[in-house]
Amino acid sequence: MPDGSKPDGSTVIVRPARGVRGLVRIPGDKSISHRYAMLAAIAEGTSRFQNFSAARDCASTLGCVGEMGCQWRRLENGAIEVVGVGRQLKAPAKALDCGNSGSTMRMLSGILAAQPFPSELFGDESLSRRPMSRIIAPLTEMGAKIESREGGRPPLKIHGGALQAIHYRPEVASAQVKTCVLFAGLFAEGETSVEEPIRTRDHGEIALRAFGAEVGRNGNITRIRGGQRLHAIEARVPGDLSSAAFFLCAAALFPGSELTLPGILMNPTRARLLDILIQMGLKISVAQLEERHGELAGTVEARGAAWKGATVAGADTAALIDEIPVLAAVAPYTENGVEVRDAKELRVKESDRIAAVAANLRKMGAEVEERPAGLRIPGGQRLHGAELDSFGDHRIAMAFAVAALRAEGETTIQGADAAGVSYPTFFDDLRSVTSS
Ligand code: S3P
Repeated sequence: MPDGSKPDGSTVIVRPARGVRGLVRIPGDKSISHRYAMLAAIAEGTSRFQNFSAARDCASTLGCVGEMGCQWRRLENGAIEVVGVGRQLKAPAKALDCGNSGSTMRMLSGILAAQPFPSELFGDESLSRRPMSRIIAPLTEMGAKIESREGGRPPLKIHGGALQAIHYRPEVASAQVKTCVLFAGLFAEGETSVEEPIRTRDHGEIALRAFGAEVGRNGNITRIRGGQRLHAIEARVPGDLSSAAFFLCAAALFPGSELTLPGILMNPTRARLLDILIQMGLKISVAQLEERHGELAGTVEARGAAWKGATVAGADTAALIDEIPVLAAVAPYTENGVEVRDAKELRVKESDRIAAVAANLRKMGAEVEERPAGLRIPGGQRLHGAELDSFGDHRIAMAFAVAALRAEGETTIQGADAAGVSYPTFFDDLRSVTSS
């Protein structure tokens, strides 16, 4: 189990565990929290969000909207309150710091492109390497002027103004791009539509509707009419299923483990993970399903049993994009191994996640085949503890803490504090349900 010792402030030691048992309250979903914060900022009235994500990424979003005159604070009951400014965002006095958060940069750009003031967005070293052409292209087509470093890399300088509606067909399946264009479409003249190659998570559309906008959908085409006004909401953010994935995979490693995760997001565009884990042998049931502002949540009960293999490809890869690192990290312990295909996008996440997973698995003694757009990891392998690196990537840090639970000997994860980008209390929560 992780003993939480942090010799240099960011190194965590994880010792092998004998089982996983207990209850974890997973923090609020990161994707929804970003969207709620951005829309609350441009809504009329005061919004309040229970279980708002504790992620550093979402703090980046709140910081950015705060720079534009939107006041927010944490209430005594832990909820986040955001005082909307309607259409009156103020020109930021300084460049907006998106930290490590691609979601902040990409989705907020949609709103900034429509503002009558210039703005600049920058991020940390990892974000500064990530591709932004995918949002620069549609926003430019709508009438904004955006400057970037070579190859569409941040920082971005946005010269916003009046926008025209467009019909946009992104090349990559990306919910961030779809949301960016829909947010810009809210301010544009006419009806904006996005036609996706593969349907991606729909939190942007659901959140826009929750705040009072009309959003249409026909197959993979989503439409929004410009000029609609938003009103504040009070909502509870469901627990983040992508964070729950680490615990579900940990439970899957031990036959006989029992885990309860209350209030987890069950949005069908995210829940493909549960189907795959069930196919792989984890026993899962969902109880107390409820809908809140268009998002489904339920209590997930999981029991470890068999742990077979899986192939993740095509639309499944897009649906599981954030969960692939942990599925791959625990793949050697499956009976038949795991193959991941069509996952080129993983190379341009917070780290090159294909290379990071392969490097760490090899350090633990695993056989791995790294491919340009995927991985093949044979099953039935025994791993040993090793000195691993998070590569500054939250999901890599957490994925390998889980893999380490079944290794022989202890594992050291350098840069483990990266976990705070999406899940600051991850190591404490993992420790609370693992037994040594
Ligand atoms: C997200 C969409 C996904 C995902 C990211 C969050 C979102 O990215 O990997 O962690 O909130 O829309 P892409 O849209 O780039 O696929």
